[in-house]
Amino acid sequence: MNATIDLLKSHRSIRKYTDQPVGDEALETIISAGQAAATSSFVQATTVIRVTDPEHRKQLRHMAGDQPYIEKAPEFLVFCADLARASLCCEMHGIEAQADYTEQFIIATVDTGLFAQNCAVAAESMGLGICYIGGIRNNIADVAELLGLPEHVYPVFGFCIGHPDQDPDLRPRLPMSVVLKEGSYSDDGDRETIADYDKVVEAYYAKRRGGSKAMTWTRQVAGLLSEKCRPHMLPFLHSKGFLKR
Ligand SMILES: Cc1cc2nc3c(=O)[nH]c(=O)nc-3n(C[C@H](O)[C@H](O)[C@H](O)COP(=O)(O)O)c2cc1C
Repeated sequence: MNATIDLLKSHRSIRKYTDQPVGDEALETIISAGQAAATSSFVQATTVIRVTDPEHRKQLRHMAGDQPYIEKAPEFLVFCADLARASLCCEMHGIEAQADYTEQFIIATVDTGLFAQNCAVAAESMGLGICYIGGIRNNIADVAELLGLPEHVYPVFGFCIGHPDQDPDLRPRLPMSVVLKEGSYSDDGDRETIADYDKVVEAYYAKRRGGSKAMTWTRQVAGLLSEKCRPHMLPFLHSKGFLKR
């Protein structure tokens, strides 16, 4: 189609990197690409923390469920949704900030996702590999403390960057009829289509793990949705001044 679409469609998360550094210049290019993303009402509600201290990396690795690439990746970033800066704007104008609305939380979180995905695409366009790390929310309060995050700032996810030292297969996505609907929402036919997709994912896992992982997409997602999912998140976000109304 074109080079950008080819790049987007060749995305794979990379979890193994060579020792080659990413370098300051490349990192700044990646971050400036992130900053160029659309941002709700021009609020620019994202702050990125580049974690360079090896001891902090080690601690973050453990806080995020012992994911080794957090420690080993040439670069590890933490993307934070940040309404503290918007609150500072209020302060600069003698206005009371109301950063505790759910809508403000959504705005800051969406902004951060868009910023990060621009970074991902930029990095991949430079031949680098990335992996998002939602695992930092396993122990989010400890992560926030380690990074010195103030009120109205929370770490949404981490992000490893480096030169790929692996070449994984593409993870097959859902058939388009399941994700693209015309006119109104419908799940007509989805059950059958998803059952077929299960076979595709099963074959992907069988190949990827040398046949050791027998898993379908529906089973994986059902497992995810049938468990308590980081129940500490709401009290943590409340403690940071988010989602009060
Ligand atoms: C917000 C977010 C958080 C993620 N967290 C992790 C993580 O903690 N550890 C990990 O290995 N992969 C993580 N991933 C990567 C996903 O597992 C991966 O994107 C998904 O399985 C699809 O595979 P692909 O990126 O190779 O296409 C995360 C992805 C996203 C978008």
